[in-house]
Amino acid sequence: MTPYSDLSPSPRTIMTPGPVEVDPRVLRALSYPILGQFDPEFTALMNETMSMLRSLFQTENRWAYPIDGTSRSGIEAVLTSLIVPGEKVLVPIYGRFGHLLHEIAERCGAEVATMEKPWGSNFDPEEIIAAIRKERPSLVAMVHGETSTGRIQPLEEVGRFCRENDVLLVVDAVATIGGVPVEADAWFLDAVIGGTQKCLSVPSGMAPITYNERAERKIIARKVIERGLRQPGQPSESSGLAGIRSNYFDLAQLQDYWSPARLNHHTEMTSMLYGLREGLRILLAEGLEARFARHRLQERALMAGLTAMGLKLYGDPSCKLPVVTCVEIPPGVDGESVRAMLLNRFGIEIASSFGPLKGRIWRIGTMGYSASMRNVLLVLGALEAALLKHGVKLPAGEGVQAALAVYEAETA
Ligand SMILES: Cc1ncc(COP(=O)(O)O)c(C=O)c1O
Repeated sequence: MTPYSDLSPSPRTIMTPGPVEVDPRVLRALSYPILGQFDPEFTALMNETMSMLRSLFQTENRWAYPIDGTSRSGIEAVLTSLIVPGEKVLVPIYGRFGHLLHEIAERCGAEVATMEKPWGSNFDPEEIIAAIRKERPSLVAMVHGETSTGRIQPLEEVGRFCRENDVLLVVDAVATIGGVPVEADAWFLDAVIGGTQKCLSVPSGMAPITYNERAERKIIARKVIERGLRQPGQPSESSGLAGIRSNYFDLAQLQDYWSPARLNHHTEMTSMLYGLREGLRILLAEGLEARFARHRLQERALMAGLTAMGLKLYGDPSCKLPVVTCVEIPPGVDGESVRAMLLNRFGIEIASSFGPLKGRIWRIGTMGYSASMRNVLLVLGALEAALLKHGVKLPAGEGVQAALAVYEAETA
């Protein structure tokens, strides 16, 4: 007899800013039999995935493929392949994930200039443009949707300025892709990193990326050829010290692997690719516009419910990220105790927060498969009950009624 019980995770309603609930069709896809990574049936699935990713990122870029690893693996792959040590990089920071970009850029050997906004706000694009004029970076890296503060940063003006001034713009769209428009070509984004575990509703484990020819030129110029794969006469390192330092995250090698040449690199995560392809298929069948509208509707209903309960929404409303709603914890209430009650009594998970916001706000996600009327009504009802249990005086029943009114108005 084994001392370990059968694996049987409890059913959960996951209303965090990621990971979120996974569509059952994606879970089914994850369980299909493995194919060899050079089996033509599998390489055809790889090609289809690339084509679906182009639609997701709204781009004509040749390169759109997943990096194997969590979202930050996509960030590391892009930054390590695009930053030559010693180069100047500008990172505008308005929350925790801006600090992550700063850290990774520094590890890539960049001379990093940062600019910061207080948490809960974002940048006027003109401020970023002025900083680019002053700092003259070769690359700007910034977050599109900050899950730590629930804010979004408009990108198009900065993208246009970067393009006109030959600066590469790299964007972390981990939280926004599939829930909020991300238009790689129209906004002049040179490289974009998405996430699977949020609005795509695929488990964590792959990071879809795309990059254009401007980025590719820099990557190719830094190409390092792996020793055992070298052709006779090819140098083992063609770019000397400027060569890409990582093997796993070397986009020059990875794009060869995703190209028709299929040059061997790593062993593909077959099951994860099935899951990603199924998640993308479901997303494209729903349609990007319909999906964005669904996310906006769930956000509206959730915000109406929370405010009707007398709770205060956190942050500047003019830059609210539609897929994450931050709520101030009422004075005198132990936020972690409320979260524990939601999880243990109702099977509902909402998120706490980081850094300066720790203990001050809860963060509620309405992302992907979790962005449903059922989930929004459940979280409002359960939160109301948990707050009443914690001694908060609130108008009982109002939250759910206000959300119901939003849904009724939508279908009227
Ligand atoms: C905006 C943003 N960027 C990057 C990440 C890092 O992603 P991962 O934890 O999958 O590496 C997250 C994760 O929550 C995120 O919200």
